[in-house]
Amino acid sequence: MLETMCKRRSIRSFTGEPITDEELALILKAAQSAPIGRKEYDTLTITVVKSKEFMEAFDKGAGEFFGDPNKHPLYGAPMIIIVSSALCDGPRINTYYSNAACVVENMALEAVELGVGACHIWGAMIALRQMPQLVEKLGIPADQTPCCGLVLGKTTEKYEPREIPADRIKVTCVE
Ligand SMILES: Cc1cc2nc3c(=O)[nH]c(=O)nc-3n(C[C@H](O)[C@H](O)[C@H](O)COP(=O)(O)O)c2cc1C
Repeated sequence: MLETMCKRRSIRSFTGEPITDEELALILKAAQSAPIGRKEYDTLTITVVKSKEFMEAFDKGAGEFFGDPNKHPLYGAPMIIIVSSALCDGPRINTYYSNAACVVENMALEAVELGVGACHIWGAMIALRQMPQLVEKLGIPADQTPCCGLVLGKTTEKYEPREIPADRIKVTCVE
């Protein structure tokens, strides 16, 4: 597991070829095995988006939202798996975003195992939330918000073992 985690990195170049149904099934199995606060599974929805039309509209809209129509925030990936969550303004807001992140990271790790390209997408979700005509297509419950996603596709890039500095994130200890 640690080897897979150290190999994981964001892949942002895709051949355009989709992942196979078998690969998708394993990635979704990884998603379903994520830890979810208080087991509130029904506060989340996982949406597999394969529609070329949706991907193009989302990518274009997000590029424009960020002020650069030449930018491709979805990197030409053939698909995205979007994780939507019920959010709240209360003290448990951290739980709901975290649930979604746990699902996405589980899928990202399985993508490494399978050797398929994957990248977390959070920035473009801000843009998606401004595109009601696309959000509507997701068919998610009215109380849920698209939080994050994982673009996926075949890539020519390889996941290689990486040296991860032990102090990349500050670690402190209270004894
Ligand atoms: C919460 C979160 C949000 C992220 N959002 C994006 C994003 O919108 N677009 C993107 O290209 N990468 C995104 N990433 C990937 C990070 O940029 C990436 O993990 C970081 O640069 C470290 O590189 P690595 O994944 O190759 O180790 C996100 C990662 C996380 C955990």
